[in-house]
Amino acid sequence: MRGSERASPLVALLLHGLRAVLSANTGFSVSVYDVTSSSIYLRWSKFSGASSYRVTATAENTVGHSLLARFGDVTLKSTLTSLIPNTVYAIQAEAIDKYGNILAEARTMQSTVLSAPVLSASSPRYDSIAVSWKAVYMAAGFCVSLMRSDGLGRMLKQNTTNTSFVFSHLDPGTLYTIKAYAWSANGLPGDDFTYNQRTIPCAPGNISIEEDERGNLLVSWSRVNFGHYYVVFVKSDDGLEVYCNTSRAQCYFQSDCGFTYFISVFAYNKAGQSPLGDVFNYTTAPCCPSDFRAVLVSSDTVEVSWAPVRGAEMYETKAASWRDTVLCNDTATACTLSALRCGTRYNVTVYSFSEARGSNTSCASKDVATGACCPSGVKLYRLGSNGIRVHWRASEETVSYTTHLHGSKGTFTCTPSPGLSYCDITEIPCGDVYTVVVSPATDRRMKLTFCPKKIYSAILDVTDIVNTILPKCSLSEAGKVICT
Ligand SMILES: *[C@@H]1O[C@H](CO)[C@@H](O)[C@H](O)[C@H]1NC(C)=O
Ligand SMILES: *[C@@H]1O[C@H](CO)[C@@H](O)[C@H](O)[C@H]1NC(C)=O
Ligand SMILES: *[C@@H]1O[C@H](CO)[C@@H](O)[C@H](O)[C@H]1NC(C)=O
Ligand SMILES: *[C@@H]1O[C@H](CO)[C@@H](O)[C@H](O)[C@H]1NC(C)=O
Ligand SMILES: *[C@@H]1O[C@H](CO)[C@@H](O)[C@H](O)[C@H]1NC(C)=O
Ligand SMILES: *[C@@H]1O[C@H](CO)[C@@H](O)[C@H](O)[C@H]1NC(C)=O
Ligand SMILES: *[C@@H]1O[C@H](CO)[C@@H](O)[C@H](O)[C@H]1NC(C)=O
Ligand SMILES: *[C@@H]1O[C@H](CO)[C@@H](O)[C@H](O)[C@H]1NC(C)=O
Repeated sequence: MRGSERASPLVALLLHGLRAVLSANTGFSVSVYDVTSSSIYLRWSKFSGASSYRVTATAENTVGHSLLARFGDVTLKSTLTSLIPNTVYAIQAEAIDKYGNILAEARTMQSTVLSAPVLSASSPRYDSIAVSWKAVYMAAGFCVSLMRSDGLGRMLKQNTTNTSFVFSHLDPGTLYTIKAYAWSANGLPGDDFTYNQRTIPCAPGNISIEEDERGNLLVSWSRVNFGHYYVVFVKSDDGLEVYCNTSRAQCYFQSDCGFTYFISVFAYNKAGQSPLGDVFNYTTAPCCPSDFRAVLVSSDTVEVSWAPVRGAEMYETKAASWRDTVLCNDTATACTLSALRCGTRYNVTVYSFSEARGSNTSCASKDVATGACCPSGVKLYRLGSNGIRVHWRASEETVSYTTHLHGSKGTFTCTPSPGLSYCDITEIPCGDVYTVVVSPATDRRMKLTFCPKKIYSAILDVTDIVNTILPKCSLSEAGKVICT
């Protein structure tokens, strides 16, 4: 095929037509219609009385290279092939009768053209194509042209004596058709070589990285024109690299808590890989504290401890009950939550925190109940001459209470019948001073609860009066009664 910039077939035909040589007086002629570097297409006229035609082609300047062919009387055309490029051939056609006599002959001279430069091409950038070719014997120069295969845009053309050329300012990911030919010293163009090459795609843009609940990373990007597939490389800060190969515009990666990942996305087509765009980094949420313990160390104090974890810059400890929340932020791996409400279940959680991701909100929690509440409004009444009735108001929790009377001659205990909020102790020795303590009885954490005390003095011989010496009590911030 000839490039459009060269002589049109019609012009070529006229040129070659002019070279047709009529044999003198006979009207027999041979014409050249088309020429390449290795072939010459011939036509000859019908000659009356001929029963066959014979064609010979002899290369000038090349010893021993000639072709001979015979044709029947109906064949008036032929293509001479396997010719030597850029070589002048003397062509002779003869009309022969059935006895072998030559009735007429015609001659012409025709040179083959230069052979085509064999091209190769690649796309070093998304907007350029580098073309190179093998040198062509006897070539004075080369013309290389390029245009979009879909016919859009204009053709770029370059004359050069070099054997390479780079076309730039092209469209990314686009298929181009490249043609090249050599020309000879006398300016005749040689055979064309055609090559299709695509530019590499642009780097994908709009890259976003998200972390899901389960700690997987979702990387997504904008598709690029003519990108056939995408490869995402993810390298973690411990050096491990994984990749994902997809024709979609997103990819999931399994990630671990507390790591930083470096992410790059490339688009590929047949021409190769897009240039390296931005390398993104993403730090995943810190890991949850491991070895997490929450222990009640006294009725209102919980000691929380844990092991340090990857990615955590700080820890937030939260103890939440239905009516209050206690917080503690620290870089240390322990926290003491004190002055908690009595008889309350706390949901204790330690969240790890990093500047980049904030808190990891999926950390497990532990349930811790504080010690049972003491009763309020403890009142003492005399019962007969040597007895005492202890009254109290039960706390919101339904708790059983036990009353202890500590005196110098011993301790007296009573447990009320279920549902009652008083209890009688009789036959206690008079003339002693007793400390009365009403404390939660059924709770296994009882020992942790220290309830306020009351002092009672039962004086001998005084039969009509009970002195209750009420201690001085105050209500603490945590709602605990402190008596002295
Ligand atoms: C390339 O060279 C050919 C032959 O010398 C000439 O006809 C043509 O105009 C040149 N084209 C350019 C773009 O220089
Ligand atoms: C030919 O190549 C040389 C070096 O490779 C370069 O300097 C020169 O500009 C090129 N000439 C043309 C016409 O492309
Ligand atoms: C990014 O996304 C916007 C909106 O979807 C789009 O218009 C733009 O072309 C994208 N940019 C790149 C570089 O892909
Ligand atoms: C990605 O997939 C394509 C097509 O399936 C394949 O040709 C290419 O080699 C793969 N690339 C990598 C890095 O695995
Ligand atoms: C992560 O990316 C940000 C910009 O997005 C940059 O400021 C920071 O230095 C990067 N971190 C690392 C460790 O490369
Ligand atoms: C939170 O911590 C857990 C346990 O350490 C971990 O599996 C998870 O990936 C972390 N991140 C998020 C967002 O939950
Ligand atoms: C603990 O840190 C978190 C996050 O920075 C903050 O919201 C909270 O108020 C802090 N709590 C205390 C008690 O400092
Ligand atoms: C404890 O708190 C966490 C986080 O606030 C919550 O997810 C969990 O359901 C709570 N557990 C209970 C038993 O209340």
